[in-house]
Parts: sequence; structure tokens; C-alpha cells
Amino acid sequence: MKDLLKLKTSISEEIENILNEQVKIEGHASALYLAMSAWCDDQGLDNAASFFAKQSDEERTHMLKIFNYISNRGGRSISPEITNVPVDFDSFRGVFEQTLEQEMFVTEQFNKIAEKCFKVKDFVTFNFIQWFLAEQVEEEYVARRILELFDVIGEEGTGRWEIDRHLVKVTFDGE
Ligand SMILES: [Fe+2]
Ligand SMILES: [Fe+2]
Repeated sequence: MKDLLKLKTSISEEIENILNEQVKIEGHASALYLAMSAWCDDQGLDNAASFFAKQSDEERTHMLKIFNYISNRGGRSISPEITNVPVDFDSFRGVFEQTLEQEMFVTEQFNKIAEKCFKVKDFVTFNFIQWFLAEQVEEEYVARRILELFDVIGEEGTGRWEIDRHLVKVTFDGE
């Protein structure tokens, strides 16, 4: 029986659990960014609304990438229950502060997954998460650069409009 189980799956329960947790985190991030998109749209911040709609799509892609990986390795993927999705946000700047916090949290989670991979010597999963670790550099970079626009431009007068106009130009080239 034990051997049969071994043939069915090549990931440990510990790794399967932490990856399913990450599926949920990515799913929640997708819902959170979609909520931010709706809020920005309501505030007339059209570029920020598009930015967050795109981020939301990306997070769903991340979620599916991990979801499929678990299945492909013979584990059982769990479609997560997404709760606690906010409707209102305090401010335009606050939305981006929360974005940076969210991305820093995700980076921390992937560091934890990497640590666990080493602990159980699952270097296949360690290799799989390399893409995510690299992706987090970009995610944090973009959030930080956009926050700088708030310092440089300021939200007074036409400031919010200016920030909204400029934030789409923030890109990461990895150098
Ligand atoms: Fe993500
Ligand atoms: Fe992200």
C-alpha cells in the first residue's frame, strides 16, 4: 500500500500543504487587486484601475501555475475559498502601500517554501519556485516605484491625475 502511494505522488504532504496554502494566497491576491481596480475606477483613476485589473489576472495565473504543479506531481490541488475581500480603501496612496505590503508578504511566503524544500530535500519543487522568487523582485520594485510618485508629485490639486497618468510608465527591466 505504501509503495502504491509512492507511485501515485512524488510530493510530500508537507510540500503539498504549503503549496495549497500558496494557491489560496495567490487567489486572494487576485481578488484583492480586482477590488482595488473597482475602487480606483470609481475614483476616476482609470490607469490605476487597468493596472490592478492586469495585476489581478497575473495573480490568477500564479495561482493556476501552482495549482497545476501540485496536480502534475500527483498531489491534490485545492480550489481555495476566498474571503475577506475589501470593498473600500482609505486612499489612493493607501492602495499602493497595501500592494507593497501584500507583495512583501508573498516574497516571505516563497522564502518559507524554499526553506521547506531544503528541509525535506525536495529540489524539484525548489526548482519550480525559482520563477516565483524572481517574479517577486519585479512585483516589489514596481510597487515601490509607484509609491515614489506619491512623494514626488503629491496628491494635491491635479496631483492624483498626474500620478494616475505616470504610474503606467513604471516598468522593470531587471537591471
Ligand atoms: Fe503572485
Ligand atoms: Fe504579486
